[in-house]
Amino acid sequence: MSELIQQATDAAANAYAPHSGIQVGCALETVAGNTFTGCNVENASYGLTICAERNAIFHGVAEEGPMMKIARLAVIALGHEFPPCGACRQVIAEFSLNDGATEIAWWKGGAPNVVKLRDLLPSVFSFQK
Ligand code: THU
Repeated sequence: MSELIQQATDAAANAYAPHSGIQVGCALETVAGNTFTGCNVENASYGLTICAERNAIFHGVAEEGPMMKIARLAVIALGHEFPPCGACRQVIAEFSLNDGATEIAWWKGGAPNVVKLRDLLPSVFSFQK
């Protein structure tokens, strides 16, 4: 996970965040072994902002295709510590390993914190089960 954390930190430097000033980066590794990154991209019409996680996930689908599955994912905000927002958790779930086994890392208390998606989003929305 440490390499993904570094790649997420690097991606955060590319954030377009003139409105919040919060630069976020995400890096994910797929089951197929590819790595994709994303940063947050804000907009003057605030609701159009895309989070770093969704940017990375959509990048992964565009490059790898609709069967992409996320093995592990790291999100890093420069100068802040937070896990993926609720919207991004739901999008991660769409491309998660079975039973929410995808691992999610973020910086917490000055150290990497790793949890499974099922623990971050216990009651995922799904109409497929
Ligand atoms: N943001 C992310 O990129 N990921 C999250 O999980 C939470 C929030 C971004 C959106 C916005 O550009 C900034 O952080 C402040 O909310």
